[in-house]
Amino acid sequence: MAVDPASYWDRFLEMKRYVRFGPEDEPFLRELLAASRPEHARIARQFYERAREHDEAIAVFQDEAQIKRLQSSLVVWMERVMTGPYDRDYCAKSARIGAMHVQVGLPQRFMVMAMTLFRLALVEIAEEAMGDRATRAVQALTRILDIELALMVDTYADAFLQRITRSEQDQKHPDRLRRYVEAVELAPAVVVGIDEEGVVQLMNRAAQEATGYARDELVGLNFSSMCLVEHEDHSFEDAMGIIASSPPSESATLALSCSLRTRSGHLREMRGHLTRAAQRDLGERLYFLVGRDVTDEEALAVRVRRSEKLAAVGTLAAGLAHEIRNPLNGAQLHLTYMRRALGKEGDGDVLEAIEVVSDEVKRLSDLVTDFLDFARPRELNRSRISVQDLCHRSLDLLKPAASEAHVQLALELPDSEVMADLDTAMIEQVFLNLLNNAVQAAGSVGGGVVTMRAYRRPRHAVIEVVDDGPGLQDVEAPIFDAFYSTKDKGTGLGLSIVHRIVSDHGGEISVQSRPGATCFRVELPLYDPEQPPTSVVFQSTRP
Ligand code: HEM
Repeated sequence: MAVDPASYWDRFLEMKRYVRFGPEDEPFLRELLAASRPEHARIARQFYERAREHDEAIAVFQDEAQIKRLQSSLVVWMERVMTGPYDRDYCAKSARIGAMHVQVGLPQRFMVMAMTLFRLALVEIAEEAMGDRATRAVQALTRILDIELALMVDTYADAFLQRITRSEQDQKHPDRLRRYVEAVELAPAVVVGIDEEGVVQLMNRAAQEATGYARDELVGLNFSSMCLVEHEDHSFEDAMGIIASSPPSESATLALSCSLRTRSGHLREMRGHLTRAAQRDLGERLYFLVGRDVTDEEALAVRVRRSEKLAAVGTLAAGLAHEIRNPLNGAQLHLTYMRRALGKEGDGDVLEAIEVVSDEVKRLSDLVTDFLDFARPRELNRSRISVQDLCHRSLDLLKPAASEAHVQLALELPDSEVMADLDTAMIEQVFLNLLNNAVQAAGSVGGGVVTMRAYRRPRHAVIEVVDDGPGLQDVEAPIFDAFYSTKDKGTGLGLSIVHRIVSDHGGEISVQSRPGATCFRVELPLYDPEQPPTSVVFQSTRP
């Protein structure tokens, strides 16, 4: 804050006149100073110690070194207050000191209280040291300390006035409103203004993108019923209620997480705040929902966690497979030898037992092969290929298994070619795996339909494999995790291999399921003319 010392001089003279402070006070102050001087260092120390007890007071100090320096400044100040001369220079120094406190943000009330500390300390010294002259000394002290205080309080008032004037000028600035609108409009955060009835009054561009509604479609309608998903915790309504019950003169903010239902019925997860500004008039009150759409972030986090899990399991699988493979081969050899040794005439029970053991060993052997398939580092051998062709090929391969299970196969493809850079063999493995699962699911209820469908999105090819089987037992189950299986003889690696291949292509796989409709959706990046096909090395943690 800029201090104009001249503007304080007239006030200083006026205050001196008001309390009748004049040359007759000066001898008493000097006498008091002689008695108090040895105590000034202690008074200054205790002065800052008191400040340490209060958060808002201690907050204005930079560090301990500054406090030490200020103790000396305070000793100088006490000397000056009791010696004068009480001229223009004195007035300017006091006004400057006042302004310093405004500058550091010291709340005004601490200034008033702090002055009381000096007064008490110096009055005590006067009464102890000055006998019957103490009363006059205390009167002189009271006058000059109050003048100091009045000057300091005025610097606070002046600073406040300067701020109001600046703010008013700012408000009148013709571009100001437009800049605010631009800032809110361009902010990469969802901003929705809602009135007390829950009706949308304004929304920015990010809010339009997140909800899928154009501004004019949503403004005037109830936000909750249009865009919020009924949550058991009713977090939005609760937050509105809590904020509504806080005093209107204070601003209120609550952290909020909620799910938005977009115009097309998708769910978007929001994290942010519901906030209401302090209100000084009786006009309409607006609540602002300010937040971020974290849906993609959260989905990415889930994918990363899943990939990490898969990578960790991959390391384990590779090690395990190597350890198991040799003894298994040995066991199988010995079983063959035993079978031969017993011959056809051997004990039927023993032969049967050998068969059982042999089957189990084979099962273990298959498991090891799957393990290695899952864990082995491989290069993606990408080439530009038509997604339609790949779908045709995969479906053709499944025809025998489908007819055996009395399952009909259907193919729905777009007319115009959808091209992508893919490792054909691997993606075929993905499609076959999904189709196989779907045929088994549809067949399990006595024959049904499996549909393979492909379509394109702006940057992705989407391939869906849909069956009308009984649906997944548990939609939340970690079906893409390694070793998770609901099949009696499954290794639990099929879908994790599928997941891995899709993610190594930069794609995504998801599933939706209810009885009679299970849909595995694979999204693969489309062929990008800017990017030549590349070979990507699998991220394997195998040692
Ligand atoms: C009547 C009460 C007070 C008096 C007479 C007083 C006196 C002074 C003086 C003389 C200075 C100038 C130091 C310099 O020139 O370097 C100063 C600065 C300062 N005072 Fe006070 N003070 C008072 C109250 C307080 C209180 C209560 C606090 C905090 C709790 C405080 C915090 C500060 C700080 C942080 C500065 C440094 C400002 C800067 O460096 O810009 N003062 N004060």
